[in-house]
Amino acid sequence: MAAPANQAAWIVKAGAPLEVGDAPLPTAGPGEIVVKNAAAAINPLDCHMQDSGVFVQQFPAILGCDVAGEVYEVGADVQRFKKGDRVIGHTINLVTGRPQDGAFAHYSVVSVDKAAILPDNIPFTDGVVVPFALEAAVCALCLQEPGVAMPGVSTPALGLPYPSLKDTDTALPPGKKTLIIYGGSSSVGSMATQFATAMGIHVIAISGAHNFVFSQRCGAIEVLDHKDTAVVEKAVQAVRRLGESEFIGIFDAIATPETYAHDRVILERLGGGHLACVHPPPAMADLPVNVKAGMIFAVNDVAAPVWRDFVTPALRTGRLQCLPPPVVVGKGLGCVQDGLYLSKAGVSARKLVVEF
Ligand SMILES: NC(=O)c1ccc[n+]([C@@H]2O[C@H](COP(=O)([O-])OP(=O)(O)OC[C@H]3O[C@@H](n4cnc5c(N)ncnc54)[C@H](OP(=O)(O)O)[C@@H]3O)[C@@H](O)[C@H]2O)c1
Repeated sequence: MAAPANQAAWIVKAGAPLEVGDAPLPTAGPGEIVVKNAAAAINPLDCHMQDSGVFVQQFPAILGCDVAGEVYEVGADVQRFKKGDRVIGHTINLVTGRPQDGAFAHYSVVSVDKAAILPDNIPFTDGVVVPFALEAAVCALCLQEPGVAMPGVSTPALGLPYPSLKDTDTALPPGKKTLIIYGGSSSVGSMATQFATAMGIHVIAISGAHNFVFSQRCGAIEVLDHKDTAVVEKAVQAVRRLGESEFIGIFDAIATPETYAHDRVILERLGGGHLACVHPPPAMADLPVNVKAGMIFAVNDVAAPVWRDFVTPALRTGRLQCLPPPVVVGKGLGCVQDGLYLSKAGVSARKLVVEF
């Protein structure tokens, strides 16, 4: 039988709109699968890469970090997956620079350490919201030792355990620790809220007032409005009200000058703690003493056990929910550019998704 044709939405240079064109059909190397994509999600990172060319190792390139679809081919040594399996996966063109590792194509390569079976009852357009945010959440919470996020910037090391499949099995006694998640309605912040909750941690989320119910659905025990002028004081009081629960620190999933200013005061008032950020944190000299700050880099083997042991059973039981919910931008590779424009305009507790 003739090999199927592949197509991709290519970027040929920084700042250029994506162009749909033919692409080589990828093959699965050791430890890899090729996925026939049914859906891909759009992330702010794709917009940064398109606009400035940052992280793009060679043009033309194929961007995109999240896929859902059916396994088309497995590498010779692959045991966990077989042709035809429904899967979700994190594509890592960001670090490999290989076009076949981008999501905006009909066929993409995914490492078996960054993929999981998607239960039959979950549509591809729902499952595809999970992969990149999942890896970001695990990197924010579970690294045991600081590594290098980028030259001169270390990764955070909150040293937390992996999420458990049941409340009765959490490695931490429930509520023993408290974490503030700034940006609780964002894709990364909401996934981190789900994960921290599944570790037995009390999460205080800072979200838009219209997204309080959403953040509670992710597991937050208290939600504060990021536009409230008293948000810093309310965050400090919310942590103090939890009494004996140990304050871990803040995961800042927004990481702007405004949120850093608030992080700084909250940490100062609470005696320090971790500050994990999605962008480079303020210089140590600008932070209170006893603050350990770092930036996540959401491609890391620390997530492999979560992909292998947690994702599929947790999706089956609802312990892991496909949140934020998808907004399907359209069908076909030609709609990816529309999704990128919409992403730049901003989303609220939603993930933009393209169907293929
Ligand atoms: N370093 C890494 O490895 C890594 C990995 C993934 C993502 N990132 C970065 O992380 C950031 C978030 O990505 P994402 O995909 O999660 O974003 P997203 O879902 O597109 O973020 C949208 C959300 O941001 C919230 N928000 C905006 N300003 C806020 C503020 N001042 N306080 C609290 N919430 C605020 C909005 O909340 P409301 O609508 O409720 O107001 C909205 O729900 C991006 O800059 C991305 O580039 C970095």
